Amino acid sequence: MRLSFSTVILTALVSFGLTAVALPPGTDDEISERLKPYGTLSRVDAAADTGEVVAKMPLTGEEVYGQYCSVCHANGVGGSPLFADTDAWAPRAAKGMDALMVSTLNGIGAMPAKGTCMSCSDDELADAVTYILDAAR
Ligand code: HEC
Repeated sequence: MRLSFSTVILTALVSFGLTAVALPPGTDDEISERLKPYGTLSRVDAAADTGEVVAKMPLTGEEVYGQYCSVCHANGVGGSPLFADTDAWAPRAAKGMDALMVSTLNGIGAMPAKGTCMSCSDDELADAVTYILDAAR
């Protein structure tokens, strides 16, 4: 008998599959019960229950800088102007806040849009830019 290549592969896959997949004990329901995340109450749920609107706390400029921007600006990654480097920031600051916000929102050179903080509001990003500029005065 001449086995085709695909038959051999198929047979190998089927037998491997049958031996290699160790099924966890229990029914599907028991398994999903075990895998359920611990604790289901979140701030969003609580707000929905009471009908209250819970505003997301905005990050300060320093927090945005620390969590996102410092990844590059603390070390000059990709040629980014260094934090608190007055000489590096002076010509940038001279462009004015509006121009810097355009670069920050859209990205510039090796800097990605929003400096990677996709969840940041424009205000949070503006606070981060202000924080950076203040440090370089
Ligand atoms: C992945 C690295 C990276 C991250 C993260 C990053 N930057 Fe940048 N940033 C750069 C680089 C590189 C430049 C210089 C780009 C150029 O002029 O070619 C730059 C330049 C800037 C400038 C000057 C823009 C201009 O028009 O001259 C501002 C303002 C700035 N970044 C703000 C931020 C803020 C605010 C964050 C965080 C929310 C951030 N950056 C995060 C790499 C980064």
